[in-house]
Amino acid sequence: MHDKSIEILNEAIADEIGAIHQYMYFHFRLDDLGYTPLANLLKQTAIQEMQHAEMLAERILFLGGEVEMVVGRETEKIHDAEAMLTKAKTLEQETIEMYNRFAVECSNNADSVSKQLFETLVAAEEGHWDQFDRQAEFVARFGEQYLALQSFQGGSGEAGA
Ligand SMILES: [Fe+2]
Ligand SMILES: [Fe+2]
Repeated sequence: MHDKSIEILNEAIADEIGAIHQYMYFHFRLDDLGYTPLANLLKQTAIQEMQHAEMLAERILFLGGEVEMVVGRETEKIHDAEAMLTKAKTLEQETIEMYNRFAVECSNNADSVSKQLFETLVAAEEGHWDQFDRQAEFVARFGEQYLALQSFQGGSGEAGA
């Protein structure tokens, strides 16, 4: 009955898994560069994407479907912090557009709960986009040096939250 929703929910999980892989990769790299607060932000965001995957999986199981666990995209091996933030913003933007579209599709298929789930996730992804945008602005204004100076404060900057 909700085959279309199950398909959409699995597409969303693939997207979340792709984001988890990319953000963890950024986390390792940023940590290696000594940009601890930004490294922490990427790790925390990856954990939140994992929670999104869990919410989507629970909905699939409720609908009687299988959780496919497809990896949505290949991890890009970006080494530059500014380029990482640009990539992260693009990923969030694509996800926001996708989930808005999915919410409408679920609504058209008379699946209000999946629609609500996608709306909740859109709000979360907009929050991620905003966090990355703030960091990108700081880097643009003060240079990558800013990221190193932040770590001087013992990782207590806002990005470490
Ligand atoms: Fe997510
Ligand atoms: Fe996100």
